[in-house]
Amino acid sequence: MDYETPLFYRVMEYARAADRDVIDLVSGSPDWDPPEAFRDGLREYADTDQSAFDYGPSPGLHRLRQQIADHHGVSIERVVVTNGTGEANHLAMATGLERFPGNEVVLTDPVYPYYAGRTNLLDAESRFVPVDADDRLDPETLRAAVSATTSVIVVNTPNNPTGGVYDGSAMGKFVDIARTNDALLVSDEVYNRFDYSGRFSSALAADSTGSGPNVVVTSAFSKSMAITGARVGYGLFPTGDTENAGGSVEGAAGNPPDESFVDRVRSRHMLMNVTGSRPVQYAVSRAIEETPASYYERNRQRMADRIDRFCNALDALGAQYHRPDGAFYVLADLPGIGGSLEDAFGLIDEAGVAAMPGEAFGQARADHLRFSLLTPRYEAAVERIADALDRR
Ligand SMILES: Cc1ncc(COP(=O)(O)O)c(C=O)c1O
Repeated sequence: MDYETPLFYRVMEYARAADRDVIDLVSGSPDWDPPEAFRDGLREYADTDQSAFDYGPSPGLHRLRQQIADHHGVSIERVVVTNGTGEANHLAMATGLERFPGNEVVLTDPVYPYYAGRTNLLDAESRFVPVDADDRLDPETLRAAVSATTSVIVVNTPNNPTGGVYDGSAMGKFVDIARTNDALLVSDEVYNRFDYSGRFSSALAADSTGSGPNVVVTSAFSKSMAITGARVGYGLFPTGDTENAGGSVEGAAGNPPDESFVDRVRSRHMLMNVTGSRPVQYAVSRAIEETPASYYERNRQRMADRIDRFCNALDALGAQYHRPDGAFYVLADLPGIGGSLEDAFGLIDEAGVAAMPGEAFGQARADHLRFSLLTPRYEAAVERIADALDRR
């Protein structure tokens, strides 16, 4: 599987070229408004004086980093503001591969394809651990797959594409597996505001040492504030305590052994970007301060309702799937429709519905399609699919 050219683009290109109206159930961008305070923050920034358009601090605006630190209950030193969750994941994986022994990244199957593409880009080996029958990653299956060659383990909760949410007990086991194998656990929690089960637990909460030498949490405001184009994310990286973190490979890539994990991340981030965009960080910071809890709850409820309705419609079609506990997607096996790229093209031609082929996410659900519910037209999409199946 070539993870370096995401199939996302191929499906969207095919949909754009189609000679008919196509309902987009592919995109991962929320279709609702960002917080009003985010727009206000951008407007306000546009009128500030010249110096506000100079470089900002490389690890991010201090006020924003402090807000993120307070939200997660960690020290500000752990926070680096990044160009979305994507950059935070990259920094975590690249630095983890350098600091922890081995050259293998353990990923789930199905997988968010960018982790796999990034593993290739970093010249590391991927090992895929299939989720179990109910679309969850079983900690004991993960434990059996992790070995001395494992450097980094990546988990994602709530999960894209399965919708799985890991509870505190599972997260605690993931952290323990990383620690006992001298590996880094990267937990991508970008959908943390979209938990419909009440079971979501951050890897930070599961990390009993508190100092987190084996844990990185990544996230962003992309989904929670409906601003995927703003590119404001962050990582919470290990500081100071390098006793366990990479001690065994000290100096492996020529970096000073006394440079902490987060310092190394900061250098990488600076060499790659200098710093992130200052105006959008300002607007996000203002939005964090002023946005009421009801904004997040309204959008969480919106997605919970869409998922319910969509799943009920899938039941009527006789589809096989697991009801997602989180995130925006439903991964389903539709009767008579496979999960290849050709099947996704066929669905566009026959039904005017664009979905992601399951094979884009690996082998384990290669006969499924992933439906993103970020459009009010998701019910019309199921009707179109039902009509197309009837016409066959
Ligand atoms: C699991 C996961 N991680 C990261 C991202 C990218 O997030 P960002 O836009 O904050 O870089 C996505 C986007 O869909 C995602 O699904």
